[in-house]
Amino acid sequence: MNKIDKLFGLKNRTIIVGGGAGQIGFSFCRILAEAGATILIADVDVEMAQQKLSTVETDALRNRIHVFPLDVTKKRDVLDFFRRAGETYGPLYGLINCFHFKGNTRKLDTSSNFFAPLEEYPEEAWNMVHDVNLKGSFLMTQSAIPYLEQNGGGVIVNISSTYGNVSANKHVYGDSGINSPVAYGTSKAALINFTRYVATHVADKNIRANCLSPGGVFNNQSDEFIANYTKLTPLGRMASADDYQGAILFLMSDASAYMTGANLNVDGGWTAW
Ligand SMILES: NC(=O)c1ccc[n+]([C@@H]2O[C@H](COP(=O)([O-])OP(=O)(O)OC[C@H]3O[C@@H](n4cnc5c(N)ncnc54)[C@H](O)[C@@H]3O)[C@@H](O)[C@H]2O)c1
Repeated sequence: MNKIDKLFGLKNRTIIVGGGAGQIGFSFCRILAEAGATILIADVDVEMAQQKLSTVETDALRNRIHVFPLDVTKKRDVLDFFRRAGETYGPLYGLINCFHFKGNTRKLDTSSNFFAPLEEYPEEAWNMVHDVNLKGSFLMTQSAIPYLEQNGGGVIVNISSTYGNVSANKHVYGDSGINSPVAYGTSKAALINFTRYVATHVADKNIRANCLSPGGVFNNQSDEFIANYTKLTPLGRMASADDYQGAILFLMSDASAYMTGANLNVDGGWTAW
């Protein structure tokens, strides 16, 4: 095996991608499958996952990606998912927590109370965001640990955000009706320290845990938003979902074998000013 395959290859490694039907999540599934991994998408939106899977060009790649319905906030369902995944596709090597609650799983819906301003932020939206983003990552991680341990070790990656590192910048949003709500930032900041806790408490089981903090992905936002976002990004553009493929391949593979408890910012320089 050449050095590059040794560092980045994921042949015969099974990786669960929670939220794998999403924009960034499915891009992860593609690159990890290309590196040889077997991918298990666990997502509430099975229809979206199947639709994206149908766009994958080759049978070989498509056959390495499997879709499971799962609501990550339901502990019993999460445990049941891991039992089935372990039985059918075990041993399990990796977990990526790449889901989030944004009011509507399919689009940015400005009528959703998810986008309410701080002074009026509803308790239900606060609870829902933390339930999915934080509790969901906790339940998935807790359930994964015994399976990764059985495998002799493994890798966990939590997906945070620039807004888990710095405050959302309210000047970006103008009159768009979307903003980045308080609960998003608090849940994403908590994920970074959750990652450190996990990393330090399971290192003795040969399990590594890291965080990836992406910046904003182009998703047909308004021209005003795109212009504002671009101006505040040193690299002068929004990301495409595929801009994170290199980072996830690094974090999930032996290329990052000496890295745990870290938070990798890949954000075009957004947090560098
Ligand atoms: N897109 C961006 O600009 C951006 C920027 C920084 C960070 N992030 C983070 O990256 C991750 C992925 O973002 P994305 O843009 O791909 O999001 P997305 O909305 O496209 O995908 C999120 C996925 O999570 C799934 N999901 C929601 N609730 C769930 C639940 N209860 N159980 C299981 N699955 C559930 C949705 O069905 C969806 O497939 C998120 O954690 C997000 O916070 C995104």
